[in-house]
Amino acid sequence: MSFDQQPGGYARLSPSLAVADHEPDRNLALELVRVTEAAAIAGGSWAGLGDKNRADGAAVDAMRKVLSTVRFNGVVVIGEGEKDEAPMLYNGEQVGDGTGPECDVAVDPIDGTRLTAGGYDNALAVLAIAERGSMFDASSVFYMEKLVTGPEAADQVDLRLPVKENLHLIAKAKGLKVHQLNISILDRERHHRLVHEIREAGARTRFLMDGDVASSIAAVREGTGTDAVMGIGGSPEGIITACAVKALGGVIQGRLWPTSDDEKQKATDAGHEIGRVLSTSDLVTSDNCYFAATGITDGDLLTGVTYAKDRISTQSIVMRSKSGTIRTIDGEHPTSKWDNHRP
Ligand code: FBP
Repeated sequence: MSFDQQPGGYARLSPSLAVADHEPDRNLALELVRVTEAAAIAGGSWAGLGDKNRADGAAVDAMRKVLSTVRFNGVVVIGEGEKDEAPMLYNGEQVGDGTGPECDVAVDPIDGTRLTAGGYDNALAVLAIAERGSMFDASSVFYMEKLVTGPEAADQVDLRLPVKENLHLIAKAKGLKVHQLNISILDRERHHRLVHEIREAGARTRFLMDGDVASSIAAVREGTGTDAVMGIGGSPEGIITACAVKALGGVIQGRLWPTSDDEKQKATDAGHEIGRVLSTSDLVTSDNCYFAATGITDGDLLTGVTYAKDRISTQSIVMRSKSGTIRTIDGEHPTSKWDNHRP
């Protein structure tokens, strides 16, 4: 059976329209939650222990193990780095059980390794999947300038405009005054001028220690109190965010931000035009994308993993752009099954 979306938002189950085997179908969404749950449980067991590398290693290992059981034929496009430096989930690695639909895969076993190690809020285990060949290969440039906001102003904002102008457009589209806007931004030296511009326009900043994926999701969802994300963050997180934006609505615009001549050269060699504003659909061309995240530590988006005597509890969100379905899933897992992931 396939899921058939009817005009007006009604859906019916249609036995006649079988999903082609090469296309990811809706079952994949729920399979992906198992993957981020595993990464969050393993990574989260290191929360607050001060060792971000071991937390990350545990999450990577767990994510990779469970990914190998999922019925799809994936290639990691956004991974832990080049094969030489990243022994697992490296860019180009084949993941999944090798059968079923061919997909691009973006992994971030921990978005917020420092947050996890320090026991701070907002660390997530994240995974995004889209049809093969549809994710922008951002491996040549680590940073990207980003502008993320909700559906109201999605067609109006433009990274090329002055900050003040974008803020006015967002405020107007949302029916707010500029001074009512909250703009999330990574707390970094490089944002000194941007912070000044935001505040001079009258809007407020919300500093993030790390982890701009969770805030980007907040920026496109209603009622979160975050109106936009601005500033320079990781390019991989930009692609992952684009997959979520495809399901949630809103916009992410990105512009590669090379920090060395070497990165500039690599970007040019990869065929990228530096300075070009990339739209959500440039970052992921497919409209058939999936996004899954599980909270590692507590956050605005999800609660973190809790480890009780017999049960481990998780909270996850999973989205599929084709249907626009967004699910929040509370999981309970027997502790005995996860004992070997303990530090
Ligand atoms: P980790 O991958 O180490 O967890 O870092 C996550 C993150 O904070 C992203 O959310 C963000 O896009 C990027 O790092 C920012 O990079 P930097 O810390 O170098 O400014």
